[in-house]
Amino acid sequence: MTSNHEAAPAPVVLELRNAVKSFGAVVAVSDGTIELREGEIHALIGENGAGKSTMVKILAGVHRPDVATFQVAGEDASFRNVGDSKAAGISVIYQEPTLFPDLTVAENIFIGRQPVNRLRLIDRRRMRRDAAALFAELGVDLDPHRIADGLSIADQQLIEIAKAISMDARVLVMDEPTAALSGAEVDRLFTVARRLRDQGVGILFISHRFEEIFALTDRITVMRDGAYVSTHQTAETTEAEVVREMVGRSVDQLFPKEPAPIGEPVLEVTGLTRRGIFSDINLVVRSGEIVGLAGLVGAGRTEVARAVFGIDRYDDGSVTLNGTPIPPHDPQASIDAGIAFVPEDRRKQGLVMDLSVARNATLAVRRELARMGLISASHEREVAEEWTDRLQVKTSSQSAPVSTLSGGNQQKVVLAKWLATEPSLLIIDEPTRGIDVGTKSEVHRLISDLAGRGIAILMISSELPEVLGMADRVVVMREGRVSEVIDRSDAVPEAVMRAATAAREEVPA
Ligand SMILES: Nc1ncnc2c1ncn2[C@@H]1O[C@H](COP(=O)(O)OP(=O)(O)OP(=O)(O)O)[C@@H](O)[C@H]1O
Ligand SMILES: [Mg+2]
Repeated sequence: MTSNHEAAPAPVVLELRNAVKSFGAVVAVSDGTIELREGEIHALIGENGAGKSTMVKILAGVHRPDVATFQVAGEDASFRNVGDSKAAGISVIYQEPTLFPDLTVAENIFIGRQPVNRLRLIDRRRMRRDAAALFAELGVDLDPHRIADGLSIADQQLIEIAKAISMDARVLVMDEPTAALSGAEVDRLFTVARRLRDQGVGILFISHRFEEIFALTDRITVMRDGAYVSTHQTAETTEAEVVREMVGRSVDQLFPKEPAPIGEPVLEVTGLTRRGIFSDINLVVRSGEIVGLAGLVGAGRTEVARAVFGIDRYDDGSVTLNGTPIPPHDPQASIDAGIAFVPEDRRKQGLVMDLSVARNATLAVRRELARMGLISASHEREVAEEWTDRLQVKTSSQSAPVSTLSGGNQQKVVLAKWLATEPSLLIIDEPTRGIDVGTKSEVHRLISDLAGRGIAILMISSELPEVLGMADRVVVMREGRVSEVIDRSDAVPEAVMRAATAAREEVPA
């Protein structure tokens, strides 16, 4: 048990004060401060581009601060590289770890420091035994023998954590670890995090999800525009208070859809089936309508969206747009017909990292611009600016490479790119994942605007309040099938959850 709240505060394990880090003319962190104690979980929160990941990279030895006071376990620290940070007992778990796919789980944990036997040969038995002991200590069920290839992101993160523990890490930093996890995987990660906290590890945790922050952490530090704002005991503050500090104003977190006239069917999906993945999916989305596709992670929602757009093939069924059949497995034909698809994994699937913000934001409308003879650089910037302004993209200039933007701001550029096409059907997968609280309602407002202009919208979301606030109808999927279609007026959380989770009825023998 921890006794953070009763006893004298635990010793400070890490202290980074008044850090400054610039990239050319861009000041990513202007006055960053974080203090981490032994045996606490400490949230670092702030809007997209506030400087959180830059702080993490300073702690990780990836970036050297221009200026800072930095101590680890009471000693002055100055890291020249990642190795220095590791040696000081700091381990960083990234959102998507990169294990060696061909090595076993145990080999990945002990790579570069494998135990050897008396003959100076790698002692595989001991390596596996040690790995198994680490997993037992963490309370997770993972097989040290298996090859890393094909492991879920959640399992890979746990392996990174096991590796950190085996290197006696006293500080664990997790930068948006939960963004790509399912609910059950988040629970498992939190159980492990609490266990480590109880063993005295200091954990720095970054997330845009307030329910996670308030469920897990002991203290919260807020950053705004590269600078430290405040630190609170989690139990003594509120979401409204920290949001106000993050954004500099109070925020309405949800922007419910404005009523819009609903017209003719735009998208009609009939009997869509991909063997083993989803089957017999029937869907209609009308002009001006937002249809929410709800369900648990793994229910097949993203897979259906990918098949409708033509990224994946399907075995049976049909897709029509405004009455015209859309050829299967042909994304370009879908785009030409007027479908836009904003994928879930936007960074990988939606951006060309070396190109500028303006070029990325106009990628999908270039043909249209060219046809109107409007492809000049200044016009490109103008079109890009309209959308990047509305989405509050934080960038030093429209010509900066998109790779230099923060994670959340990269996501906003992908949104801008597709919103600029004004399609007849917009398919959007997890529209606000990784997007900060201040911009969330703006994204909702934009989607609502588009519906108001007659665009049909199919929105996949795991956030219940978002689905309930935005959707005219909620189509709930479970295990690859549509389990229920719920009208806006009946769409209460319990109804959606029941449809998403109810066990299939047993057929009596
Ligand atoms: N290598 C770089 N070159 C230029 N600018 C950079 C670089 N890395 C970060 N920045 C800028 O520094 C600022 C802070 O970025 P950072 O990634 O730390 O934000 P963040 O708080 O992690 O945001 P998010 O919630 O979106 O992940 C941003 O404006 C970003 O564009
Ligand atoms: Mg970040």
